[in-house]
Amino acid sequence: SAAVVLIMRHRMRSSSKWARVVAILKEFEEKCGTPTSKLMQVADAMTVEMHAGLASEGGSKLKMLISYVDNLPTGDEEGVFYALDLGGTNFRVLRVQLGGKDGGIVDQEFSEVSIPPHLMVGTSDALFDYIAAELAKFVAQEGQKFHLPPGRQRELGFTFSFPVMQTSISSGTLIRWTKGFSIDDTVGQDVVAELAEAMERQGVDMQVSALVNDTIGTLAGGRYSNKDVLIAVIMGTGTNAAYVERAQAIPKWHGPPPKSGEMVINMEWGNFRSSHLPLTEYDHALDAESLNPSEQIFEKLTSGMYLGEIVRKVLCKLAEEAALFGDIVPPKLRTSFILRTPDMSAMHHDTSSDLRVVGKKLKDILEISNTSLKTRRVVVELCNIVATRGARLAAAGILGVLKKMGRDTLRDGETQKTVIAMDGGLYEHYTEYRKCLENTLNELLGEEVSQSIVFEHSNDGSGIGAALLAASHSKYLEVLES
Ligand code: GLC
Repeated sequence: SAAVVLIMRHRMRSSSKWARVVAILKEFEEKCGTPTSKLMQVADAMTVEMHAGLASEGGSKLKMLISYVDNLPTGDEEGVFYALDLGGTNFRVLRVQLGGKDGGIVDQEFSEVSIPPHLMVGTSDALFDYIAAELAKFVAQEGQKFHLPPGRQRELGFTFSFPVMQTSISSGTLIRWTKGFSIDDTVGQDVVAELAEAMERQGVDMQVSALVNDTIGTLAGGRYSNKDVLIAVIMGTGTNAAYVERAQAIPKWHGPPPKSGEMVINMEWGNFRSSHLPLTEYDHALDAESLNPSEQIFEKLTSGMYLGEIVRKVLCKLAEEAALFGDIVPPKLRTSFILRTPDMSAMHHDTSSDLRVVGKKLKDILEISNTSLKTRRVVVELCNIVATRGARLAAAGILGVLKKMGRDTLRDGETQKTVIAMDGGLYEHYTEYRKCLENTLNELLGEEVSQSIVFEHSNDGSGIGAALLAASHSKYLEVLES
């Protein structure tokens, strides 16, 4: 009968729909593949680029920026210091009281503010005025417990998490913006001068004693609590790594040899690129539409700003070409960046039998209601593919750094630990991602060596680290020492 024909037709349509869904998903998964052999190639390419970036300015896509930090915190830092942490969607202001020898952190206060999106693409003055105004409010709340010796100016460690060509520990020019910031008139400017002028306009009496990247701050904060910390990795809105290099291994450094014989390097590994990276059509499209096309390719594969957007792009394709969500493509699905990585993470971690978190997110964010369990499973699988690729590539990046440092193998009788200070929202909150990253590094290093590598979550270490570096570079210290 006609009804039977209709049902048959529906079934056929539906089975070919799922066949198409599976085919698209499968092809994507293959293109995202990160077998061990490939990760080894990525790690080796990272090591090669590190050498090239250290050899000469502009020698590599890896900037390997000199931080002017040649002495990490010792624990002797003392006094009240401020820190300002700018680098993602939020910025933080901190006040820290350091207790001096073995005194540790006596007290700390902070305030966190989100950055209005229009300021990320406006003018330099508008952004820095906003920050300085928040700093002014924070200073105004300074209580009795934090007091500076009379006649002493407040000092600040400025964590500015973008590529900066440092000219000293407390100055440096912005090379370019990343992570969705795009303010032309800041590029090429000394960001400390920009901040200082804004502080003056806002009536904040404070001096910048240290300018650091968040990786450098995290390394410093990590070292303060654990002397085996040698590497810092940020997995957040963006991604980057810093590590302690031998001064002798930095041919492009022409300054005086540091007393410690060491120099901390800000790799800016987000800009790493290699033919071994598994890039798909979705990655190429994401890159082309971004504010910084053909830059930060490693970052676009691995970091929090982009993972959710990759998932959205593939979902869009599944809706268009396999009718995953029915005959029409849900309009919201066409909005760039509507699916944020925290939402992706929540869906990926859904352990309910009917995947109701996935159902709710699809409804609330994309206005797709009544999804079947089968559809929800596809979404979870997609999150898994994208997160796994990112986490495994990040692990390969870390292996590249360990190789450069000669810490990817155990020398005879050596038992020394290498501690990696980790921070960033992706690492902190996306458990599956973090587990995959750590497991992959262990897989790459092998059981024996991996016992010598320790991941340590350095919770907001970058702000504290900047305060510590402000303390060790305090202008009053020079007065005392001279
Ligand atoms: C971006 C920035 C880099 C920062 C990283 C993590 O890659 O360019 O400076 O360290 O994000 O915040």
